[in-house]
Amino acid sequence: MKKSLGSLAGVALIALSSQAFASEDIEIGQKIYERAFGRGCGTCHDIASNPQLFDLVKSGKLDRAKFETVIKEGKGGMPKAMEAIMAVGPVKKAGYGEDQALDALYKYLGSK
Ligand code: HEC
Repeated sequence: MKKSLGSLAGVALIALSSQAFASEDIEIGQKIYERAFGRGCGTCHDIASNPQLFDLVKSGKLDRAKFETVIKEGKGGMPKAMEAIMAVGPVKKAGYGEDQALDALYKYLGSK
């Protein structure tokens, strides 16, 4: 009995801490969306005629690999964005690498 209570508490702790990481990730993703290039991704993407990133990610039409390619290489009117993303204050503060920053941004886009 004692032992099973102990492992239950362990499971609860693990669940809690991974939830905390997930919400920090999403917050940093939001900061990237709002601040990259100084004016954020939304200055272009919240306009109806441009790709709607939230819908694209949530619906699964834009997968993580395609997302990364466009961010790193640009596409038509879409500027290369990796450098701008890595320059966002909270990304630097969290010590995120490129993969982590892209994960956070992708997670945020899928969360709304
Ligand atoms: C200067 C305006 C502008 C800014 C700023 C901008 N984008 Fe874009 N983005 C575009 C345009 C225009 C397209 C469509 C390009 C095309 O299909 O030719 C696009 C396309 C994309 C695509 C590809 C969508 C698809 O279905 O292929 C992704 C992903 C994307 N942008 C992400 C971002 C992210 C993330 C940011 C912020 C870090 C950002 N964009 C900032 C204008 C912008």
